[in-house]
Amino acid sequence: MRARIIGTGSCLPDKSATNEYLSTIVDTSDSWIQSRTGIRERHLVSSETETTLSMAASAARAALEDSGLLPEQIDLIIVATVSSDFITPSAACMVQKELGAMKAAAFDINAACSGFLFALHAADAYFQAGIYQTALIIGVETLSKIIDWTDRSTCVLFGDGAGAVVAKASQEGMIASLQGSDGTGGEILMCKNRANNNPYIATGTAPDYLYMDGQEVFKFAVKKVPACIQSLLAQAELPASEVKYYLLHQANYRIIASIARKLKLPLEKFPSNVDHCGNTSAASIPILLDEVHKAGKLSPGDLLLLSGFGAGLTWGAALLKW
Ligand code: UT7
Repeated sequence: MRARIIGTGSCLPDKSATNEYLSTIVDTSDSWIQSRTGIRERHLVSSETETTLSMAASAARAALEDSGLLPEQIDLIIVATVSSDFITPSAACMVQKELGAMKAAAFDINAACSGFLFALHAADAYFQAGIYQTALIIGVETLSKIIDWTDRSTCVLFGDGAGAVVAKASQEGMIASLQGSDGTGGEILMCKNRANNNPYIATGTAPDYLYMDGQEVFKFAVKKVPACIQSLLAQAELPASEVKYYLLHQANYRIIASIARKLKLPLEKFPSNVDHCGNTSAASIPILLDEVHKAGKLSPGDLLLLSGFGAGLTWGAALLKW
């Protein structure tokens, strides 16, 4: 049995921050941001009640409603995030409590922007092993709390949000998937945690903010994602043209366009929401999937290829039948 997606949902914070607004905070401009990234605006949490949990739970409720399943029918909850509200309990356990999905085992995955794909891969593996039959898989980020709002090279790129899917063990669904990591590249995109301040090591330094070497990440993405896509297509013995949509991690429209060029595929096969969401890390692919599904663009039997890359370094891809 493989993972078949039977429902999707998403949640974006109400407040949208335009490029013009950000140019009042740091030395930037709408034309620089749009021409280098394709981003026009991003959604940011704007009250104490908008949290990683609130967005994750809202996306999850929408995905459950779309799937027709009830919270108590879910066996597994996996949340992919690097910006959980708490260090412990996990975001997945908090979502479980919020929804009343008390039968589920719940845990988080930290694989940055590839996190949703790692979570989908894990759920599919549980299904293949016959351990679980249903899963709620959520990608959620409140990146605004780990961003350095004085660093124009990163703060204009990211946004907050959540996307969720409900998956069921089925004869058809996932066709092939892969995931990978290269910890030697970890320094090009990182956010350190709090320093030790136990009685022996009282450093007392403040927690760090996100750091990125944008050009190195760009080069990694445009090399790795086409390789992942080609590997899955070869595994499934499918020509690239048979896939209806390539739903890629939404970091920068130039990255998406470059990947489409490398694969010699028309841009229409690459839906994008980076213009209004920015880069929402683990949430970007499930938010995009939800938008495409709710716009009525998917029919049963359509082939979709999801692929992403991110900090770690990590990468992943999934070829599935809708
Ligand atoms: O989810 C995975 C994580 N992220 C990514 O995938 C991001 C991958 N990288 C990128 O998307 C691009 O590298 C960026 C959008 C981050 C940067 O674009 P770039 O074309 O690589 O620009 P750059 O870093 O080479 O900077 C060009 C210039 C620099 O000025 P000088 O040195 O040429 O005078 C920067 O200081 O642009 C300057 N700059 C800005 N100017 C206005 C950097 N950020 C800004 C800004 N506004 N926000």
